[in-house]
Amino acid sequence: MNFDRLAPYYRCMEFILAGGKMHRCRTAFLDQVPQPKNILLLGEGPGRGLIECCRRFADAQITCVDASERMLAQARRQLAHHNLKASRVEFIHADILNWLPSGKTYDVIVTNFFLDCFRPEQLAQMIPRIADISAPDANWVIADFQIPPAGLRRIRSRLIIWMLYVFFRVATRLAARELTKPDSVLEKAGFTLHRRIESEWGLLHSDWWRKR
Ligand SMILES: C[S@@+](CC[C@H](N)C(=O)[O-])C[C@H]1O[C@@H](n2cnc3c(N)ncnc32)[C@H](O)[C@@H]1O
Repeated sequence: MNFDRLAPYYRCMEFILAGGKMHRCRTAFLDQVPQPKNILLLGEGPGRGLIECCRRFADAQITCVDASERMLAQARRQLAHHNLKASRVEFIHADILNWLPSGKTYDVIVTNFFLDCFRPEQLAQMIPRIADISAPDANWVIADFQIPPAGLRRIRSRLIIWMLYVFFRVATRLAARELTKPDSVLEKAGFTLHRRIESEWGLLHSDWWRKR
């Protein structure tokens, strides 16, 4: 898997295909989670979530992990473009499945359109490892795709998601072949769903999970 090739076009592609819909999902709960000290942004991509976190959580230290060097470069450029302090942000170029955390604990974990990159066994490996480095009262905010349970909405979402996986498989050699719901793994790792907002006919969701 390598998102480098897509990095220069990613934001533009999102704008053309989804307008502001995905970004509304990213920010749905950011005004409500308690002010954190340490934030962990996983698979942050070109930095839209990062900018929102920097603006809302002025005193927080942010760790940003991504496997794509070019995505991280875009995120760095966004910080500079918005005149935000780069010293608050630690950028880590790593595959999350092999990343060895430094020993910090995180109050907020952010995974925007990231958990959908993984196969079930990868989620089962990664989520408990992230839970281990989260604070006892941590919040985990997620924006992602989903497949509604029934009806036309289900057919529509399945079709769109199928096309997305074909595209990302070709463009990035993504290992995941289909969308895996992370809910049961998050629950097993000690998190409880606090709030969920669905949008775009059930295709998108924003979640706020809290550590029990
Ligand atoms: C679909 S993009 C999402 C980007 C952004 N978070 C957003 O909201 O649009 C997935 C991002 O996760 C990163 N990624 C995918 N698999 C990864 C892995 N195993 N470890 C670290 N980053 C990964 C990619 O490089 C890419 O930047």
